[in-house]
Amino acid sequence: MNIILLGPPGAGKGTQARMLVEKRGMVQLSTGDMLRAARTSGTEMGKRVAEVMDRGELVTDDIVIGLIGEALDDAAASGGVIFDGFPRTLAQADALGALLSDKGLALDAVIELRVDDDTLVERITGRFTCGNCGEVYHDRTKPTRVEGQCDVCGSTDLRRRADDNEESLRQRLMEYYKKTSPLIGYYHAKGALNVIDGLAPVADVEASIAAVLDA
Ligand code: AP5
Repeated sequence: MNIILLGPPGAGKGTQARMLVEKRGMVQLSTGDMLRAARTSGTEMGKRVAEVMDRGELVTDDIVIGLIGEALDDAAASGGVIFDGFPRTLAQADALGALLSDKGLALDAVIELRVDDDTLVERITGRFTCGNCGEVYHDRTKPTRVEGQCDVCGSTDLRRRADDNEESLRQRLMEYYKKTSPLIGYYHAKGALNVIDGLAPVADVEASIAAVLDA
C-alpha cells in the first residue's frame, strides 16, 4: 500500500510512520528528514534549505519533488511507501500523482491526522529525537526511561530541531493552512481522504490507521 500521512507540524506523522515501518515493513519517505540531511551536507543548496526551514517556510517544490523522485526509485520495490510531509502543495500533489503513475503505482489512502493548534504548540516545544535511530520523544508525554539516553538504541545523542520553537511553529502553521490544507479538499474529491483524530493517544491513532489500511 502507498499512503500519505497529512497533517500540521506535530500532528504525529513521524511517530505513526515509524510504527508502520516497524510493524508492516513499509518504507517511510519523509521530505523533512531528507531536507535535514541536505542541510548538514554543507553544500550551497543545503545552506539555502537550512535558512528556509529555520524560518518555518516551505522549501521550493522543485527541490522536494526531485528528492522524492530519486527516493521513490528505490522505495517502489518495497511493501509500500508512506509519504510523510509530502505533498505539501497542490503542485507537489500533482507531481506525486505523475511520479506514481509513471512507475505503475497507485495511491491507496490519504490519512489526515486532525489536531488543534494549542496541542501542536505543546507537542512541538516538548519534542526531542534520537540523532542515531530517529526515535521521537516528548518531555512530558514520552520521556526516555533513563534520562539522556535513547530507549531504543542507547545513544546519548538526543537532539531538538532548530525549527521547534514557537516563532518558527507559528510560521509553519501559517504555511500549512495556506498551502497544505487545500490538499484535504483535493484528496477528498478523489475519494482518498480518511480523517483520524490525532488528539487521541498514540496507540489509538495507530489502531485507527490500521483500521483504514486493513479495510
Ligand atoms: P517536517 O520535518 O515534515 O515537519 P512537520 O511537517 O512540521 O512535522 P513534524 O515532524 O514537526 O511533526 P510530526 O507530525 O511528524 O509529529 P511527530 O510525530 O514528530 O518539515 C520540516 C520543514 O521541512 C518544513 O517546515 C519545511 O521547511 C520543510 N519541508 C518538509 N517537507 C516539505 C515539502 N514537502 N515541501 C516543502 N518544504 C518541506 O510528533 C510531535 C510530538 O508529539 C512528539 O514529541 C511526539 O512524541 C508527540 N506525539 C505524537 N503523537 C502523539 C499523540 N497521539 N499523543 C501525544 N503525543 C504525541
